[in-house]
Amino acid sequence: MIGRAPCIVAHRGASGDHAEHTMTAFEAAVAAGADAIECDVRLTRDQHLVCLHDRTVERTSDGTGAVSELDLADLRAMDFGSWKAGVPATVVTLDELIELTTGGPRRVQLFVETKHPVRFGALVEQKLVATLHRHGLADPGASDHPVTVISFSASAVWRIGRNAPQIPTVLLGEASHLLGGGAATAVRAHGIGPSITSLRERPDTVAKARAAGRSTYCWTVDSETDFAMCCGLGVDQIATNHPARARAWLATG
Ligand code: G3P
Ligand code: CA
Repeated sequence: MIGRAPCIVAHRGASGDHAEHTMTAFEAAVAAGADAIECDVRLTRDQHLVCLHDRTVERTSDGTGAVSELDLADLRAMDFGSWKAGVPATVVTLDELIELTTGGPRRVQLFVETKHPVRFGALVEQKLVATLHRHGLADPGASDHPVTVISFSASAVWRIGRNAPQIPTVLLGEASHLLGGGAATAVRAHGIGPSITSLRERPDTVAKARAAGRSTYCWTVDSETDFAMCCGLGVDQIATNHPARARAWLATG
């Protein structure tokens, strides 16, 4: 055994092998044995939360434009799969992803990262909390924490804590910024989320967070060496593009 078993979070789904944020990538993550799925969310012009990383659609689709200036129907007409795997795929809404994580073949946790178009500001968090309430995932009594909200934006983390304090939050960033604890304390984050490159430089970040009562979520952990380091440090959640590999490392380590 290579140390403490972390929660395996499939980063944008099983995005190492499939087009990120597609239903194929999300379903493959569940099939691979991931404990959780990470997704980025953005608001469309007509205020639907969709699972997309970039501000614009050019890199991951055959369309053009900024997500915030397109309607959901515009995105539905684009192909978000062929660029990576040669297989067409449609955009996935947060509602559709939640239906998979709560009603699919196996229940998995969700780590939702809010991205921040200047155009919408706090509306992203408002829509997110409303969506989680609609699915019964933001109820104060939900003890198994089916959803964690993560963000590089201190303002976003603070707003989630103010509007829905029962939802766990993680403040993302570099270990050098997070290890003192002040940034997370200021926004009442439940956990910190350092990058793997910064954690290699400051591995003491994990123990310091634990001593302060905070969890550590590390991204993006795609090599066995990094995975073993995170297990040894006691990282609570690791985000990986290869959840099947992580599951195998855990079994054989
Ligand atoms: O899980 C956190 C990680 O996804 C942050 O970076 O750019 O991949 O969203 P990014
Ligand atoms: Ca992300």
